[in-house]
Amino acid sequence: MEIVICKDKAEASRKAADMIAKLVKEKPECVLGLATGSTPVEMYSCLADDVKAGKISFKGVKSWNLDEYYGLPATHDQSYRYFMNANLFDKIDIDKANTHVLNGLAEDWRKECADYESQIKDAGGIDLQVLGIGSDGHIAFNEPGSSLASRTRMVYLTPQTIQDNARFFDKASDVPTSALSMGVGTICEAKKVILLAFGANKADAVQGMVEGGMSQYCTASALQAHNDAWVFCDEEAASKLKLKDFYAWRSEIEMKG
Ligand code: F6R
Repeated sequence: MEIVICKDKAEASRKAADMIAKLVKEKPECVLGLATGSTPVEMYSCLADDVKAGKISFKGVKSWNLDEYYGLPATHDQSYRYFMNANLFDKIDIDKANTHVLNGLAEDWRKECADYESQIKDAGGIDLQVLGIGSDGHIAFNEPGSSLASRTRMVYLTPQTIQDNARFFDKASDVPTSALSMGVGTICEAKKVILLAFGANKADAVQGMVEGGMSQYCTASALQAHNDAWVFCDEEAASKLKLKDFYAWRSEIEMKG
């Protein structure tokens, strides 16, 4: 895992966007795995700026999102489909038919999840997966206790995640308690992974992910076994890392290469 510690969110978002832009230029028909939440918003705006400036095009790109609240229609302003349209897809030249988000209203959720896995496989697998991290160390909605071999399935949100996400809803009781989510195993099959983490409330999760043992109590720790995983974080999110200076030195060399 490479840890790129930046002075702030703006710098980290730009660097992460540059990594995506490089892939899109090299492989215009690449497959992206995308995340929602407040963390990637600035990086998505950097990519939208690049498209506007004519530097890159998403015309041939296909995408699959990590997760969706179960029970919310795509038109709900807190659904992850709505979020993706508003924060990225409506601002770039991607063909919406090539963007995929799990259907939160799927009655047969097992079929929905199995089909999603097949679609990703048929597309050749995910070239680059974008991730945020929950304050409890989750990736997608793989809460503590999720198997590190898990696949796309129905999951339940922990009280911590419901509390963290309540800021987007009128009240905590409006936050759905379940979701459809790619599994940790699904995520780890991506060829490259970029995880973004900002703010002091992510410092424990980042420390656990990077320096803790690999365990289902911090599902992001599964990325320790990935051979091309990059963490872009700000100083606050990196503040509890024991080997912070070493990572900073090492990533500077790796970023040049
Ligand atoms: C979003 C997702 C989640 C978030 C995480 C952090 O698709 O899968 O794992 O990345 O909950 O959320 P924010 O970015 O809002 O702090």
